[in-house]
Amino acid sequence: MASDELPVRPAGSAVKAVVEGPNSLAVAFGRELSMASRSVHADDYINNHQAVAPPMHVSTTFRYNRDPEQLRPWDNLNPNAPYDSHVYSRDSAPNTTRFEAILTSLLGAPSLSYASGLAAFHAMIVFLNPKRVAIGGGYHGCHGILHIMKRLNGLEQLELEDDADLAKLEKGDVIHVETPLNPTGEARDLAYYRKMADEKGCYLTVDATFAPPPLMEPFKYNVDIVMHSATKYFGGHSDMLAGVLAIRPDRAEKWLPELREERLHLGGVMGSLEGWLGVRSARTLELRVKRQSESAQKLVDFLAEKKAAGDNSNIIAQSVFKIQHASQQPEAKDENSWLRKQMPNGFGPVFSLWLESEEKAKRLPSKLQLFHHATSLGGVESLIEWRAMTDPKVDRRLLRVSIGVEGWEDLRDDLVQGLERLKEEGF
Ligand SMILES: Cc1ncc(COP(=O)(O)O)c(C=O)c1O
Repeated sequence: MASDELPVRPAGSAVKAVVEGPNSLAVAFGRELSMASRSVHADDYINNHQAVAPPMHVSTTFRYNRDPEQLRPWDNLNPNAPYDSHVYSRDSAPNTTRFEAILTSLLGAPSLSYASGLAAFHAMIVFLNPKRVAIGGGYHGCHGILHIMKRLNGLEQLELEDDADLAKLEKGDVIHVETPLNPTGEARDLAYYRKMADEKGCYLTVDATFAPPPLMEPFKYNVDIVMHSATKYFGGHSDMLAGVLAIRPDRAEKWLPELREERLHLGGVMGSLEGWLGVRSARTLELRVKRQSESAQKLVDFLAEKKAAGDNSNIIAQSVFKIQHASQQPEAKDENSWLRKQMPNGFGPVFSLWLESEEKAKRLPSKLQLFHHATSLGGVESLIEWRAMTDPKVDRRLLRVSIGVEGWEDLRDDLVQGLERLKEEGF
């Protein structure tokens, strides 16, 4: 949390703009609008120009008021654009502010943007400043940051699934849950970890990158901070790096200005081009994510059915060792389970395929026409990654699959023909 030396803005002022602005539509309609409408209009209150599409502002600095009586430190209210007033782009800038307005509306909590998902995770750990972080597998980059923190201040990394480790947690420590998990796409029970965090006086933070809106609402579980790699679904087109922290609404009045102050000093802000791209991408978030998750489900169901048909009956059964996805967890079949409650709108567009051998997994991507062999996920184009390329700890038979917006039958046929070609070549 911000130390006493940092010149924190008066609590409330920044939050007021962030909360009231995006809320203005709900006030006008007397009800919350649909996610689809908010994706397109949540930032309208910022727009003071006739242009329908947002302008791209590259300025790093903004003229102060010409009236000397109006000069106040870190305050530069433009009377013509009260919600679009800025001082210096390491603090705030027009394009990123609009992106944050939409994020705030879609995530249901005041949100700040960062240069990348890892910049957001780093900012979160610096801010909460725990002595211990309990974290399971998940994205290896977050472990990398904890490793750096260990070198800097002795931060201890604990295993989320180890009772002896969990017993070491103390007040002020962090339980960090990634759900669904990278790279398997399997989900974790947020209510369970909230209870544990409450019992131990810990903060609960969630990396929800794999289940953006409308798939999951982590604040229903009183999560303290939700982070996303916005590079993935919020960006959605494999062309921008960004991260986001959304702050539990009842904590935001105090935490949001402090986090913003710390971001000003850490310097991990998004660039304006990325902010512009983020706004553009957010407009179609719901359309993309629903479609991607539905297509992934159809593919996973197809693969699981073929695999279940038996050892040698078809090319899938001959080649696939294991399929991992939240929909394959036993709780997915029980409509009263924590999993169905936590992910009522689909289990996400990423799953993992383990092939029978490392050789098969290494070679399949080069046999595919539609899936690009590349790391990352969340874009409109389907990706497949032999995960050993970027994660040295993962099983070498594992392929991570991220489904895009192509027709799912085409993706199915691509996978089948790829496996058949591998077989023809003796793999
Ligand atoms: C679950 C998860 N969290 C965080 C990150 C880091 O995000 P970024 O690459 O935007 O820094 C990633 C990146 O793949 C991720 O998959």
